[in-house]
Amino acid sequence: MPELTPPGAEPILVEHLRAIRAAEQASFHMPGHKGGAGAPPAGLEALGAAAYAADVSELAGFDYLHGASSAIAIAQSRAARLLGASRSWFLVNGATIANIAAIGAAVGDGETILVARGSHRSVYAAIALSGARPVYLPPLRNDRLDGLFGVEAEEVEAALARNRQIHAIHVTSPSYYGFTGPIAEIAQIAAAQGVPLIVDEAHGTHFALHPAFPRPALACGADVVVHSPHKTLGSLTQSSLLHHQGHLIEAARIDSLLQMLQSSSPSALLLLSLDVALHDMAQHGRERWSTALELAARARTGLLERGIPGLSAYGEEIVGTPGISGIDPTKFVVDVHGRWETGHAAARWLREHRRINPEFADLRRLVFSITPGDSPETVDFLLDALAALAEAGDEIVEESRIASLWPEEIPEMAMTPREGSGYASMQVATADAVGRIAAEMIVPYPPGIPLLVAGELISEEVVESMAQLLEAGCRMVGISDPSGATLRCCVDDW
Ligand SMILES: Cc1ncc(COP(=O)(O)O)c(C=O)c1O
Repeated sequence: MPELTPPGAEPILVEHLRAIRAAEQASFHMPGHKGGAGAPPAGLEALGAAAYAADVSELAGFDYLHGASSAIAIAQSRAARLLGASRSWFLVNGATIANIAAIGAAVGDGETILVARGSHRSVYAAIALSGARPVYLPPLRNDRLDGLFGVEAEEVEAALARNRQIHAIHVTSPSYYGFTGPIAEIAQIAAAQGVPLIVDEAHGTHFALHPAFPRPALACGADVVVHSPHKTLGSLTQSSLLHHQGHLIEAARIDSLLQMLQSSSPSALLLLSLDVALHDMAQHGRERWSTALELAARARTGLLERGIPGLSAYGEEIVGTPGISGIDPTKFVVDVHGRWETGHAAARWLREHRRINPEFADLRRLVFSITPGDSPETVDFLLDALAALAEAGDEIVEESRIASLWPEEIPEMAMTPREGSGYASMQVATADAVGRIAAEMIVPYPPGIPLLVAGELISEEVVESMAQLLEAGCRMVGISDPSGATLRCCVDDW
């Protein structure tokens, strides 16, 4: 682990904050709460005075994210060194904005991007905003795990050979389940063709911090990598990172997009939380993730040793099955099929009876995220809850109703995502919408991977998947009618 700050030194933004606060006697500028003096009492009680005191702006002398020149610039370059990039940006609008800036810098209006279909909705938002034309990499069918996961390097190679117009590649690794893809092979294929590779590693910011994790995308040779450190690293929600290396995507283009897309008043709280998390990881990351890995192992062996009927967890044995090149062991994926009708129902039971929320549920699985924030007690509490969950479930003999959350066939694209989402539209009863062109996305959330993208033809299969997910209790976003009774479709003769 590179030592980025002298032992005992403070995170640079904490030091900077103290210095600028000491340098100001009175504030006659924003934010209006003036360091907390004007904060509502309920806010002080809920957030604490320290949160208001740290909520400073560039007017108080805090380095400005858009054109950082002092403390933020140093913090960002330390982040780049820690995580293996040539350049890193601190962001305040989540990995969502990182995907939008990365794709916007790589492809323009009418250009083609090769993109994994199992991508987060922010990737589709990025494609719609850029005006690019997507060519999709289909997820692989994994019969053993009864689902569609990951992408194949050979598919990337074949797509590049078929379509010489591909300007950039975007893939996601790891998935919500902690499954990683063949990023090193894809990076090699992309580099050989001079096509930039963007990897959405939102769920894998911690990979660089311990050798037991899959190789990080930057080390594999990706040109641009998206990180969502609030998911695993302990920074505040909405803080995120974008990393760059090589010459295939212009860093200056990323810079100018970020200036357009992000708030002109970036939250110092978010920036501080990033710096503090990275500083801590630089000094203690290895030991913190060793602990989390031990806890994840405790969860897996605990499930086995207790012989909890009907529940099983995935481990190393699934590596090498279709779509899965590696796993992040700190994602504890528990299969409830055969005991519970759906993972969603099992998640509801855990919430209601044990006050436990998993990270994510699908039709047959629950995903629990284990981080350095856990302890043997939290893991044992989870194992006790899983034993009770198995007990409360019924033995379900019928076969799984559907093999996967997503229809196997990628819907036909009648218009690009930008054309579809910008087209004149009308609300149509879902039963009558089959065969029409969607003007909105249908996104089960989490994981935020769309069933259908604006501009695509609405099929029976998609409507059925949506109905099954809604019935299972999955939240649906993107659609204007959350009940799913109607869908926004492009008008016929605009
Ligand atoms: C794979 C992936 N990419 C990007 C995002 C967007 O991240 P954020 O919520 O930080 O904007 C998510 C969010 O869950 C995600 O799962």
